[in-house]
Amino acid sequence: MKLNLRIWRQDGPKDSGRFENYTAENVSPDESFLEMLDEVNEKLVAEGKDPVAFDHDCREGICGMCSMFINGEAHGPDRGVTTCQLHMRRFKDGDTITIEPWRAAAFPVIKDLVVDRTAFDRIIQAGGFVSVNTSGNTQDANSLPVPKADADKAFDAATCIGCGACVATCKNSSAMLFVSAKVSQLALLPQGKVERQERVLNMVEKMDEEGFGNCSNTGACEIECPKEISLDNIARMNREYLRASLSSEK
Ligand code: SF4
Ligand code: FES
Repeated sequence: MKLNLRIWRQDGPKDSGRFENYTAENVSPDESFLEMLDEVNEKLVAEGKDPVAFDHDCREGICGMCSMFINGEAHGPDRGVTTCQLHMRRFKDGDTITIEPWRAAAFPVIKDLVVDRTAFDRIIQAGGFVSVNTSGNTQDANSLPVPKADADKAFDAATCIGCGACVATCKNSSAMLFVSAKVSQLALLPQGKVERQERVLNMVEKMDEEGFGNCSNTGACEIECPKEISLDNIARMNREYLRASLSSEK
């Protein structure tokens, strides 16, 4: 296949950026989207030009690094997959593909398709953890029975890979799907219940402080999420937040 690529190029955070046109030739339908970009970059390097900067790590749908808009859709046209799992058979010979970084004030562009998502790390640092007694008297986790239905919901929430597609897709740049997945994952399990009140208050406060918007109620985040995190988590986080606000002295 031969493809026309419109790729966002931005030299740094202060550069205003622009689209540049490239051609990808001899693209196999079996290649992944990132492999196609690798080949474009190899050609650019061979020509002595600056390769397109994009994030990637695991290339198997686990790390959440390969974040980009492809033809206006976060992680491209497939549902429930990350960009690294998207294959070129999804496109046709002669197609024009527009590739852009996430667009959200809380995710500033570092270079080309790479954005700074450390705001997510700071939200996790505000409460997305369980404090564990490491004195040697730690209770065996298996001694705390967990109802199967709760374990399943916690596991589903825990599949969030922190990619940020929910934020980039939301017209309010809301991080509520991400934060609610992290809150739910812990609030549903006995180990997470000890700190559940301060956790939800601190994480929501940090989310607001980092400049993410409120939930737009459109559900776009759930549709574009590569891990199909459910909106039910946002409802659970709102209940957790309300309960914590009413009983907290904060
Ligand atoms: S909720 Fe989904 S879209 Fe948002 S960060 Fe987690 S995996 Fe990515
Ligand atoms: S590179 Fe890790 S999820 Fe795509």
